[in-house]
Amino acid sequence: MITRESTSTLTCTPLARTFGAEVHGVDFSKPVSKETAAEIRDACNKYGVLVFRGANLNNEQQIEFTANFGEMYDVKAHMKAGRRMRFPHQPEIFDVSNLDENGNVLTELEPARVGANKGNCLWHADMAYNPRRAHYSILRAVELPPKGTGGATQYLDSRAAYDDLSEEMRRRIDSLVCNNSLYHNRKLAAPDTFADFEPSDLPMARHKLAQMHEESGRMNLYITTYAHHFDGETIGQSRPLVNELLDHVSQEKYLLTVEWENNGDMVMWDNTAVLHRATPGGAYTTKYKRDMRRTSTKDSSSYGWGVDPNATWEAGLRTTKE
Ligand SMILES: [Fe+2]
Repeated sequence: MITRESTSTLTCTPLARTFGAEVHGVDFSKPVSKETAAEIRDACNKYGVLVFRGANLNNEQQIEFTANFGEMYDVKAHMKAGRRMRFPHQPEIFDVSNLDENGNVLTELEPARVGANKGNCLWHADMAYNPRRAHYSILRAVELPPKGTGGATQYLDSRAAYDDLSEEMRRRIDSLVCNNSLYHNRKLAAPDTFADFEPSDLPMARHKLAQMHEESGRMNLYITTYAHHFDGETIGQSRPLVNELLDHVSQEKYLLTVEWENNGDMVMWDNTAVLHRATPGGAYTTKYKRDMRRTSTKDSSSYGWGVDPNATWEAGLRTTKE
């Protein structure tokens, strides 16, 4: 019998001291089977970041692959009003390129998009600014800039960073709730562009700072550059600890840099176990196309909704649940 599905057994080659792996043995020319998807999920729960070289998926196949790992976000809820989409009929695809809707490289004349891309160069976990946070993200290279012009993606092992905290620090952060704001990150990255935005004017996503990564049973330090303040404190009171934890988690020993080698490469990561960022200052930024497309699943763990399970907004906007 001819099977439509790939049922290959995968092998993982570790990439960094404590996390990350390059995965071989998955045949992406066919939809992956439930068994292969389960193996990939297990590997991602263990390694946090999985690199698939030459997966060569198209938009439709990326959506189909991602659906194996949970319910996907609809990008329309997360788009700034007025921005035109390159893939209006595939709302699961987040366009994280440096291109406008016509496929032209963005220039400094589009400060909001350029500012958003700068925000993505600060350490974060996808959708930590949303009450329903992201679990897995899958990022695929469609068109890479010339080699040597930048564009690597970097990751931090936030579970290993938690493991290394002192007992005293663990006790201090154990009950803290972080109020996360997309606009806080954007203002940090591009203060002039977002000068008129006041993060406190919009609802913030409230997530615990120290969390159990349920699939591995390990604790995770969920600190990002969306972190505005902790419950019961002002931004000024919270800032020293936010910065101390960001400095801790971003040490070289927790870092993995993934170089994109060829169009068709794809990386999957677990936003509840690692942090990531685009690398800043790439020479390609306003010169060469970097067409990257992301899909993300919603976190279904007990921490998925943070401490606001009845939130009625997404990305700062009211939802129809109200
Ligand atoms: Fe991201």
